[in-house]
Amino acid sequence: MWEYTEKLKEHFFNPRNVGEIKNPDGIGEVGSLACGDALKLTFNLDENGRIKDAKFKTFGCASAIATSSVLTEMIKGLTLDEAARVTNKDIADYLGGLPEQKMHCSVMGREALEAAIENYRTGGRKKRELEGKVVCTCFGVTEKEIERVITENDLTTVEQVTNYCKAGGGCGGCKGEIEKIIEKVQGDKAKAAAAAAPPKTGKLTNIKKIQLIQQTINEQIRPALRAHGGNIELIDVEGNKVIVAFRGMCAQCQVAEFTLKEVVQARLREFVSDHIFVQEQGDSTQQPHNHRG
Ligand code: FES
Repeated sequence: MWEYTEKLKEHFFNPRNVGEIKNPDGIGEVGSLACGDALKLTFNLDENGRIKDAKFKTFGCASAIATSSVLTEMIKGLTLDEAARVTNKDIADYLGGLPEQKMHCSVMGREALEAAIENYRTGGRKKRELEGKVVCTCFGVTEKEIERVITENDLTTVEQVTNYCKAGGGCGGCKGEIEKIIEKVQGDKAKAAAAAAPPKTGKLTNIKKIQLIQQTINEQIRPALRAHGGNIELIDVEGNKVIVAFRGMCAQCQVAEFTLKEVVQARLREFVSDHIFVQEQGDSTQQPHNHRG
C-alpha cells in the first residue's frame, strides 16, 4: 500500500478539470496505454496570453489522476513562459510529496504540459516527438529526459531513475547506460559545486557552513555511499564538529570508521574547512585533534 498525502487523496477522489477542451489552443499527449498510463492535457488562453482553462484525461493510477488534477489547477492564470518553468518536483511538492515509485506520474504531467505548449507554439497537432538518442527502448525514454530527471531531482541510483521516468523498468538492458548517465550528470554537478565553493580560507558564517556541509554530503559523499547500497544523514553541526548517521549498508559496514575519516571527513575538509571533525551519532569516544576555529 502506498503512503499518500491527504492532498493527493483529495485530488484523487475529487479530481478537478477532468475532460477535454473543445477547440483548445494547446494539446499535449504523453505516455501510452501499453506502458500503463497516458495523459492528454488541453488548455485555452485568454486575451492576455494567460492560461484561462486547462483540462486533462488520463489513464493511470491514483497518483496520475491527482498529479494531473493539481497541474491543471497550478497552471491556470500563468503565461506560457511561466507554465513552462513548472517542474515535476513542483507538482510533487504541491501535493505534499509522492511515493518515490510514483514520481513518474509527476514527470508525465510536466511532459504533457511541455507538449501542449509546444503544440500551441508550433501549431502541430501530433504527439510529442522523442528528442535525441533513445536509451530505454522498452519505454521510449531518451538520454535527454534521463539527464533532466537526474538533474532536477538529484537522483543517484538507477532504481530512482526508473521510478521517475520508467527507464530501466522493463528488460533492464539499458541499466548500464543509465548508470553512466548518472555518473556523468553527478560528476558535472560536483565539478560545478567545487568551482562555486568559496575558498576554504574565507571565514564562513554558521549558516553558510551548514549549507556547504549539506551540499558536500549531497553532491560529493552520498553518491559514493549509495553506489555501495549505503547512505548518510547529517544529524547536527556543533562548531567544527559534524555529527552524521550512516544508513543502509553503511550502518553495518565493517569499515565504517574508515569511511567516516577517509571519505566523509576528508571530503568535508576538502570542500568546507580543514578544521572539520566528523563523528558518528551516538559515538562520544571520538574527539577532535587540535582543531580549533
Ligand atoms: S531498454 Fe530500458 S528497460 Fe528495456
